[in-house]
Amino acid sequence: MTQLDIGIPGFILPEYIAQVPPYQRGTSTAKAGPSIKMSSNENPCANEWLKEKIFLIANMDHSRYPNDDYPLLKKLIAELDDVELNKIFLGNGSSEILSLIARIFLNSERIVVQSEHTFPLLSICAKLSGASVVLADSKHYKHDPAALVSQIIPGRTVLYVDNPNNPIGSLLKIDELKYLIESTRGTAFLVIDEAYHGLVCSDVYQSAAQLCNDEKHVIVLRTFSKSFGMAGARVGYAIANPNIISILEKYRPPFNISSISSALACEALRDTKFTYSCAKYIESEMELMIQDSIISNHLVYKPAANYFSLRFEEQHADKITDLLMSAGILVKHMADDPALIRVSIGKPHENVFFRKSLSTALIKVNHLEELEI
Ligand SMILES: Cc1ncc(COP(=O)(O)O)c(C=O)c1O
Repeated sequence: MTQLDIGIPGFILPEYIAQVPPYQRGTSTAKAGPSIKMSSNENPCANEWLKEKIFLIANMDHSRYPNDDYPLLKKLIAELDDVELNKIFLGNGSSEILSLIARIFLNSERIVVQSEHTFPLLSICAKLSGASVVLADSKHYKHDPAALVSQIIPGRTVLYVDNPNNPIGSLLKIDELKYLIESTRGTAFLVIDEAYHGLVCSDVYQSAAQLCNDEKHVIVLRTFSKSFGMAGARVGYAIANPNIISILEKYRPPFNISSISSALACEALRDTKFTYSCAKYIESEMELMIQDSIISNHLVYKPAANYFSLRFEEQHADKITDLLMSAGILVKHMADDPALIRVSIGKPHENVFFRKSLSTALIKVNHLEELEI
């Protein structure tokens, strides 16, 4: 047991909590001067139309709590995704939904099964709920559905996949998704996280939302953070069977989306052309990125969304991250795989500057190594 240092005798932090590593946030400040942020997989395109609306929305009367049913926002999502209203749940970012899933459905008797290279939030929340996390091997940095399914303990498992996965950007094919949905039916609760839905430019990608229309055991997560470029507003949603939705509704905090954010999300849903233009922009900038010989040499996988991972020798990745930071560029050095650096697509001049700075950083790292020899 570790003592919680809040000055109140008896407040003990249980070992199972003290041992949970915190979520590694993408760095948001460089040591000095202005910075180019490529560390949090945000959408690099600003929605000018939405920016104008913010002033109008901010000037509305926010002295009352919002309508806790969020009828307009749910109606617009239902129309966009062609699902019934009672299959939609709203969260304060999809992060809140992951955290609620852990609080409601996980305990020390349950396990979370996920791949090695996966967005880690559910596993962190699971451990805080006392559950264990089982990592299935991935296949060349892709989810391996058979390996995941082989780890299921019937009646005790939440199986989590992100599609595309973060940090690599690899995709599940439609038959792999169907296999996961079928193999978990009656044995596990399947969470499919589609945070980058809308930004994916690949014929391989298929959302699970329509595949699991009548399934009792599947929940699909989406967010306004990425495709709508609204990471700061914190709005996410889930699509699932009404039974799952009603349980989440019962235990969520009241008014979990602010009136400003829900109004903003409604406006964003009136401008779906924006998301399409972002996806096209990302596709063309990604093409330029991976044409770069240094990037293609170190690229782990041809990415499907607005970020990619580069693999270096472990002792180099840290130095390269620091050198990029000194140049004013923030990237994410992955704590759970220290050979990897994850980079998000930025604006055109930022991407050009990144390529130049990466090349300089590599020259410096190799030069330093020669001096050490
Ligand atoms: C796969 C995945 N799921 C969920 C999230 C959290 O998104 P939100 O901003 O909706 O909390 C992220 C954020 O990077 C992510 O990459």
